[in-house]
Amino acid sequence: MTLVRFLKADGTLDKEVEAEPGQRLLDVAWAAREPLEGACEGVMACSTCHVVVDGEDFEKLPPASEEEEDLLDLAAYATRTSRLACQIVLTDEMKVLTVRIPPSATNWMGR
Ligand code: FES
Repeated sequence: MTLVRFLKADGTLDKEVEAEPGQRLLDVAWAAREPLEGACEGVMACSTCHVVVDGEDFEKLPPASEEEEDLLDLAAYATRTSRLACQIVLTDEMKVLTVRIPPSATNWMGR
């Protein structure tokens, strides 16, 4: 079980949810009704699932693929610890994962 902590764009805590290993962060965000668009639903054709991972937690993630890095170059407000939520799969080793949803995230799909 991983405790996923979603922060608002201003860095304050929005909500904490528990998630199972093997779940994609994007799916966890949608289930928690976080305003993370994910327009292509994970087929790597957008960057609207962009999240900024807490520095310490960022080190727990496997490196981004070249394709993910290319998409992150298109994301607004990208930082050194930015990742695509559709590419993050939770593992048992990740006890806590803290991510901030940048202000560019929109909620036009009603999620
Ligand atoms: S949902 Fe489009 S790249 Fe993640």
